[in-house]
Order: sequence, then C-alpha cells, then structure tokens
Amino acid sequence: MCGIVGYIGEQEACQILVDGLKKLEYRGYDSAGVALLNENGIDVRKSVGKLKALECALENCVPRGHLGIGHTRWATHGRPSDENAHPHSDCTGKLTVVHNGIIENYMALKERLVSEGHEFKSETDTEVAAHLVESYYNGDLAEAVRKAARDMEGSFALVIIATDEPDKIVAARRHSPLVIGLGKGENYLASDVAAFLKHTRKVLFADDDTLAVITRDGVTLTDLNGNVVEKAAQTIEWDAAMAERGGYEHFMLKEIHEQPRALRETMRGRLAPDKDFIELPGINLTEDEIKKIDRIIMIACGTAYHASMAGKYAIEQLCRIPVEIDVASELRYRDPIVDDRTLGIVISQSGETLDTVVGLREVKEKGAKIVAITNVVGSMAARESDGVLYTYAGPEIAVASTKAYTTQLMVLYLIAMYFAQVRGTISPQRAAELRQALWDLPQLAEVILNDYQSVIAAADRYYCFNGFLYMARGINLASALEGALKIKEISYMHAEGYAAGEMKHGPIAMIDPTFVTVAVTVQSKTYDKMLGNIREVKARAGEVIAIAYNGDTGIKDYADRVIYIPQTEEIFSPALVAIPLQLMAYFVAHNRGPAIDQPRNLAKTVTVE
Ligand code: F6R
Repeated sequence: MCGIVGYIGEQEACQILVDGLKKLEYRGYDSAGVALLNENGIDVRKSVGKLKALECALENCVPRGHLGIGHTRWATHGRPSDENAHPHSDCTGKLTVVHNGIIENYMALKERLVSEGHEFKSETDTEVAAHLVESYYNGDLAEAVRKAARDMEGSFALVIIATDEPDKIVAARRHSPLVIGLGKGENYLASDVAAFLKHTRKVLFADDDTLAVITRDGVTLTDLNGNVVEKAAQTIEWDAAMAERGGYEHFMLKEIHEQPRALRETMRGRLAPDKDFIELPGINLTEDEIKKIDRIIMIACGTAYHASMAGKYAIEQLCRIPVEIDVASELRYRDPIVDDRTLGIVISQSGETLDTVVGLREVKEKGAKIVAITNVVGSMAARESDGVLYTYAGPEIAVASTKAYTTQLMVLYLIAMYFAQVRGTISPQRAAELRQALWDLPQLAEVILNDYQSVIAAADRYYCFNGFLYMARGINLASALEGALKIKEISYMHAEGYAAGEMKHGPIAMIDPTFVTVAVTVQSKTYDKMLGNIREVKARAGEVIAIAYNGDTGIKDYADRVIYIPQTEEIFSPALVAIPLQLMAYFVAHNRGPAIDQPRNLAKTVTVE
C-alpha cells in the first residue's frame, strides 16, 4: 500500500520526507515523489522505481521548503511510471496532493471534471482528487477538501498543499491510515508512525471522515461538515521495527489481521448493498462472450492454486460451467484442450510466478481469452491478460500468503456471481442472498479476529506433536490443503491436507496419539460423514480439532477441541475457515521458533520454472 509523509516546521523538509519514506519502504512501492512549497511555488520531484532513483533525481538540486509532502506509490490505477507517481497537481499547479486508497467513483468524477475543462496528465484516481479540490477552491483549502471528500466514494488518505496557503497542510481520511505526529514548532503526518518515530512519539490518530489542518503550531480536526472534533494525543511506545509492523510481532500476523480491510477493498466498486447487480469492469468480457464460455481453465501455484480449488466449486455450482484447475507447472505438459470458447483464469498474488505466466501463454496461444486475478498492477500476468481483476490486499510482505488468498477467493466469488447474473443461472432471490452474504464476509472475518484464544490454546498444545492432518470435504478441501501448506511453510512440521473420504485409503495409517487432525465440519451435506471420519480418528487414539460453526454444540462430543467461526453461505466458508488455520500455523510456528516472515528455502515470488 502507498506510503504518505508530510512535514511542516522550522527545518528544511526534503530530507525529513525522504527519510520518512525510507521508513515506509516495507509497505511496498513502485515509485516515489516529494513536493516542497517555497516562495517560487510547489516544487514536485518524482520518479518510478525505488527511493534511490528519487534520491538521484534530487541530488544536484535539492528542493527547498519548510513544508512538504511525500509519497511511495503502490499502483492501483495506472501502471507504475513517472507520470503516475505522486504527488499530483491540479491544472494551475497551485494545489498538489498525495493519496493512499482507492477512489471508487473516480471515472464519474473525472468525466465531470473533464467536461468542466480540467486537463489530466496521469491515469491515476489520485489526480481526480487534485482537480476536484481545485473545482471547489475559493481561498479556503480546508473547505474545498471537505467538499471534495464528500464527493469521493471509496477509501482515501488525502494530503494536500496550496501555494496560496503556505502555512498549512490539509489532510482528510476515510478507511485509509493517516497519523499525525506532534512536535514542538513542527508537525508531521504519515501513513504510520514508523515514518516520524525518531522525531516524535506523540501522535493523533485521525478517525474516518476527519479533516486535519496542520500548521507549525497546532492541529485542528473537523468532520466533513466542518464541526470541530476533539481527539486526545497518544504516546507511542513501539520501537521502530515494531512500528513498521503496526505493533504486531510479525508481518504475517499483521497481514492476517488486515484481511477484513483487504476483503472490503476488493469488494469496493464491484459489490454494494444498495445495488442489485455485481460490476466487474476490469474483466473486459462482453455479456455475449460470457454466455459463450463452455469451459474454464484456472492456472495457479501454491496458495493461489488452493484458491482456484474453491473457485471451481463456486463457479460450477452457480454458473454450471465446467472448470478445470491446474497447478501451473503441470498445465503445459498435459496439452490442455482449449478453444475460443475457453476462458483462462490466472491467479497470482505477484503476477510474476513464472510457471503461472508460462501457463497463461500456453492457454492464450491456443485461443482462450485470459483474465488475471493479481495483486500487483502492471505485473506480467496483468500485462499479458485480456482482462484483470485486482485483489486490493496491499503488498504482502510475509512469505506465507494470507490476505492474498482470501482476497483471491473474494474475486473468484465475484466472478461466479457475475457470470451467474449474466447467464441467468441463479434466481434473482438467490443472487440477492448471496450478495448480502458476501457483503457480510469482512465483518465476520473481524469477529474471528476479535477473539481467537481457542486457536492459541490449540497451538500451545499441539506445536510439539509429530504432525498435522487436515481433512475436509467439498469446497473446504481447499481449506484443508491451504491449512497444511501454512503449517509446513512456517513451522517446518509434517502436515497433510486430505479429502476426508480418502482417509481410509491410506492416511488413517498415520494416526496415533502424537498426530493431530484438524477437521473442517462446516458443510451441511457432508456433516454426518465428517462426524464419521472424526470418530475413526478418535478410535485410533488421534486427537481432533474441529473447525465448526457457532452454535454447533454437538460437535464437542466428538472433537477434543472446537474452534468456532460465524456461519456464512457454504461456498463462502473457505474465506472464513482460512483465518483460524492461518492463525494456527502462525502460533504453532511461534512456539517452535523459526523465522516466521521469511521461512527457510522459500522466496516470495518464484521466477524460475
Ligand atoms: C504460500 C505461498 C505460495 C504462493 C505461490 C504462488 O503461502 O505464498 O504458495 O501462493 O508461490 O505465488 P503467486 O500467487 O505470487 O503466483
């Protein structure tokens, strides 16, 4: 996710901004820039690439000014480039903004602004904010930003400076992080405290829909109607490394906790409670093309492959289109049957996994249209596909994938429901129920993350066992495989995921008192069968942890421990089941001691075949 910094005070701002951006590098970025306000106006410098590139651009002529803003960009709209890098300015060059988040209605706003004569230089949603503020500016920057913020849908942390008001920085936020650092005769702001921790530990966390006017000597907070908001300052105790991780011990835990937000971001603009249809503009397929599809091939590796397993269930169930799933490294060697009625869906967090990209090319060459589901704008998978649906998870730093997985599931659910809508394969009433259930998913994820003592207790008991077996049926077979992969990756323990019906065909031989079985029991149709499988494990002195729905008190008679999750539609359950399994892997690994964020022998992106 993008990083924002700002400074106003006695000192030259440029180095403070660049140092702050360096502290935000962990958030991931593809370009960077700063804007300094001085007596000549606003001096904007920016460049694609790492901060080194920006530093080189600044080297021979450092912009001066005691007030400035800076930004590291993680592309969401428009590829990484100098033009798309922030800061962005209005038509006059007198207003300059940086922004983190996604302005959902930016196309509509842009059309309005273009019709009013505004000229755009970039492909970003952020530039819309600059022109929007310009359209309202009448000598009162705070009021113009308030009006613009009221027009904007989606998420934003918006920071803006104006040559006509050289004594202030104005910032507004909704759903994207923004924290203000309070100094003496100087003030800071940033996406997180890591950026200014060496200058001050006294901070103000702005609430959603708050606007801040920051001067050298103070900060005034108002709501978007201009009413003053009182907010007490807090003192941060974290060290710098802890601050980067938002107070969490590891990035993996932070990213697990980011899932409700990531799911919401991924739904935004595609699904809304007041709309009785799903919109997927990025998919780039006409309704006729969608109706023509007679086979889908999904291509992915590792965790993304597990997402495709769940996606297959959802699409086949809702759309009645046959779906083949392939581990990308196998696809090209089986000479898949593909023609122009085949749709290839490529799933890759990085968009750069070589096997996946090679699989994409194979299927494309044979005549299929390709849609990519990826987290990285401008990645190879995005560039080479006909349509792209981004997961707005933000950069995933821990090697073990968590929020990328659940957001990939979210996009697959949206595709399934969109295709069902276009092909008319589910009734309007069923479609409405599913839309509501999907809309509720982030909030249910929050419920799990608010209290997971039962997971920690289970991890404390089982971390020294000999191995884990994950069993499930139906769509949650994906969860079983993903749960086992998470444990293997970060705790180096033996773990397997199995279809519960296969237990008797081999794996049950492994069961003994040192082997724990995690049974996912949230499927109604196969519930009794799962109870039978649990009984079989218990009869062989194995211990069982059940992942069950709230209210299933009967399961306690079968399993040694139960981890409860809230109920949802069966096809969406993998997105909730994943969370306790991720947490289990995390706390088991935590007890065993390996380097959780960077497990041995693994790379975040596998760019070799
Ligand atoms: C597991 C994990 C890997 C990736 C796989 C594909 O936690 O991270 O299995 O899912 O390497 O990576 P992407 O999605 O970048 O193609």
